[in-house]
Amino acid sequence: MSSLSISIYRRLIFDHVFLFLLQMIGRRCVLLALGILLILVITVNIYFIRIIVENSSQKSQFKNLPLVEENYLPGPSLRKNENSRNFQKSVGEDINEKIKEETQILPSKYFKQNTSYLIVLERLLSELKIMDNAHEDIWSIPSNNWPDAHQLIPPSAPELGTILDALRKAKVKHADNAVLGTQLKLMLTLENGAKAVFKPQWYSRDTVIRGPVYYGKDRHNAEIVAFHLSSLLALRRVPLAVIRKLDLNNEIRKHATPELYTTMYQEGNDTCLYGVCHYCSSNDPVCGTGDILEGALIFWLPRYLHLVKHRHPWQRTYKKKKLAPWEMDDNYCKKVKESKAYSPQFSSRLLDLVDTAVFDFLMDNGDRHHYELAQNNFHNPAVLLIDNGKSLGNPDVDHLDILAPLYQCCIIHKTTWDRLKMFSGGTLSLSLEKLIARETIMADVLPLISDAHLSAMDRRLLTIYAVVEYCVKKKRYVSNVILDHR
Ligand SMILES: *[C@@H]1O[C@H](CO)[C@@H](O)[C@H](O)[C@H]1NC(C)=O
Ligand SMILES: *[C@@H]1O[C@H](CO)[C@@H](O)[C@H](O)[C@H]1NC(C)=O
Repeated sequence: MSSLSISIYRRLIFDHVFLFLLQMIGRRCVLLALGILLILVITVNIYFIRIIVENSSQKSQFKNLPLVEENYLPGPSLRKNENSRNFQKSVGEDINEKIKEETQILPSKYFKQNTSYLIVLERLLSELKIMDNAHEDIWSIPSNNWPDAHQLIPPSAPELGTILDALRKAKVKHADNAVLGTQLKLMLTLENGAKAVFKPQWYSRDTVIRGPVYYGKDRHNAEIVAFHLSSLLALRRVPLAVIRKLDLNNEIRKHATPELYTTMYQEGNDTCLYGVCHYCSSNDPVCGTGDILEGALIFWLPRYLHLVKHRHPWQRTYKKKKLAPWEMDDNYCKKVKESKAYSPQFSSRLLDLVDTAVFDFLMDNGDRHHYELAQNNFHNPAVLLIDNGKSLGNPDVDHLDILAPLYQCCIIHKTTWDRLKMFSGGTLSLSLEKLIARETIMADVLPLISDAHLSAMDRRLLTIYAVVEYCVKKKRYVSNVILDHR
């Protein structure tokens, strides 16, 4: 109940009481009337005080909710409050309208296929071929030869398919809990000492995650989709990822640390585990079909790269009633640029965050609260795209606010913009589908991405074009928006 309606309500009650009092005076029962009035006033006040106390205790309950990074599907009580953040005016609404208008007058070139994409697609497909004569030391290529300041994999990587296949087939030597993030993950040591993180499958391919953009558990297939999308967009900053079907008995239990071992058990014919992590619990196990558990295996980056985690300036609050600074301020980008780390004069980090936003918007990943840089001794290291499991949530929704770094800063790397233009007219989904189909066949699993998620990417690409068109109008010259920094 709002305070306005409380006061109107109060006035009404007092008016009635007053009339009642006048009648009483007529009957010369002044004392009785005063007594009744007193009782009424006290009762009404107690009633309103109770309402106020209840309201404020609800508020403080909300305040005490922890900042959840990777939370579970919401309970009904959380869902009820989904729209309450609308009480606070978000600057996002204006930009939504402008971008919608821009989408309606988008030049026809953005709807046509651009034949340049074929050359890139052919090259990427040929990289996925497996060479027969793989060397023993194949792991040193992704660990030592490939990573540089700009990427984890170079633009031309003929050994890629062979290395992915080695990751698919390498024997597991040791299995441990991965103490990363808040969800169940395994840290596997493979033959030759390579390390990889295993994220199990929780959802079927067509599960739709509703609610806030960061809801749900990791979608293991999204890690593989992200890997191939990054190649298409020339943003090769995603760690190598393949699908793997682990035999929980022979590959994991036999090599498990005691800590992990104690969380494994049989349920009928199926082997289950629940691991040790923030959200891990014996009430919430993941089970194989028999012994076989599908998941994503992600190559662990070598220690010498010295990854350092940074807070994302466009981080969400993860609280439904609280907006982040970037959600309340149209000029937020200007403030970000004031810090040296994000000033375009000193580094391309801000442009990299715009790349990240474009990438995440296409995949519907609204959970990039931090990002990593390889800070060994690279000058101007690129923002890495690690941990993409919260992507592919809902193909029917476009979370435009993921694009905030793009529409608030109105800058983009020329290399990224060229790639985006190359995949117009539906060729983004077509190319991605072809790259991922290879993985589906190699791993012998169900198609890794649904048609709904694929066509969502084509639709979202049109929105990105519209935002860049809006930016060029706003900043008057193409050269103010499309920057050639790398
Ligand atoms: C377990 O496997 C056996 C043999 O394949 C089968 O007969 C049995 O029905 C299975 N039990 C369950 C609970 O699925
Ligand atoms: C096709 O893609 C190339 C490479 O990005 C780009 O230079 C060209 O402008 C695109 N053509 C159209 C019509 O958008």
